[in-house]
Amino acid sequence: TTRLILDCDTGTDDAVAIMAAAGHPELDLVAVTTVNGNVPLENTTDNTLRVLDHVGADVPVYPGAARPLIRPDFPIPREVLNADSPEFQVLQLDLPEATSTAQQTGAVQFLIDTYLGDEGADIVLVATGPLTNLALALGAEPRLAARIPRLVIMGGGHRMGNVTPTAEFNFWVDPEAAEAVLTAGIRDVTIVPLDATHAAELTLADCDRFDAIGTPAALASSAFVRHRIDTALRGDAEAAASTAVHDAVCVAYLVDPEVVTRSGVHPVNVETTGTRTLGEMIVDTRQWTTEPTTARVAFDADAARFADVLADAFRG
Ligand code: BDR
Ligand code: CA
Repeated sequence: TTRLILDCDTGTDDAVAIMAAAGHPELDLVAVTTVNGNVPLENTTDNTLRVLDHVGADVPVYPGAARPLIRPDFPIPREVLNADSPEFQVLQLDLPEATSTAQQTGAVQFLIDTYLGDEGADIVLVATGPLTNLALALGAEPRLAARIPRLVIMGGGHRMGNVTPTAEFNFWVDPEAAEAVLTAGIRDVTIVPLDATHAAELTLADCDRFDAIGTPAALASSAFVRHRIDTALRGDAEAAASTAVHDAVCVAYLVDPEVVTRSGVHPVNVETTGTRTLGEMIVDTRQWTTEPTTARVAFDADAARFADVLADAFRG
């Protein structure tokens, strides 16, 4: 069993990631920490509680940062956001109100306590929102970098962006946090960028398969994926009826490393000063680079294997 903490900004694809992590027999979801991102912190926390209640998972939720390190507060001007990102409309997930409540301890303190303590030694951190919480924790306690055994991040795009032509949403919302995390010296970092998540898009046939499984996790995930496909289509029958479920790819990769089919270890940085390229992930793929390598970057993924892991998780 792989123990993990999910650090997320629940939205629909984070929700599928949470349900996969809570349900898969080979995973043990220790806690969820929340951050401002797809929607304001209050809503990412509330959405997280709704999702966990919906699947009957008794997992503590620690609310984290309400705003990026130095960038303006949410709401980010909607006009700069890519209209193809359905999460931005999901202020409140279409699930019953939560009965459970968030922890009093904040996410940053929880991450520090967990990873400085002994129990953190075998807990993978999976970050699927802006990296503000982890950056704050590392800033307050630099020893943390050597204590986190493994970090898997959904963020960045090697050859694509989604908020701007070059920047992916999570890195773009808090580029200083992303750069701080990637240069902190954490020993085992994997980045699952847009290039991989879009290679593993789910289709309506996958939704039908989840519906047939019929558990609360399967049905809610199917509904969220259908919603994402509908939003991506926007009445355009010519468009492919599939959607990336970015964050869930990180969770599936933990269970089945072959969900990622091509990757490389490279120096990776995030642009924090560019006028057109703010938040861009820079992967140094030069063979002769003398920069130290800092992360494994996933370049391609297998949609069928991804869907298989989700199906296994939803069966529970
Ligand atoms: C990422 O941005 C968010 O909108 C999604 O939840 C995902 O984490 C994709 O760019
Ligand atoms: Ca997310």
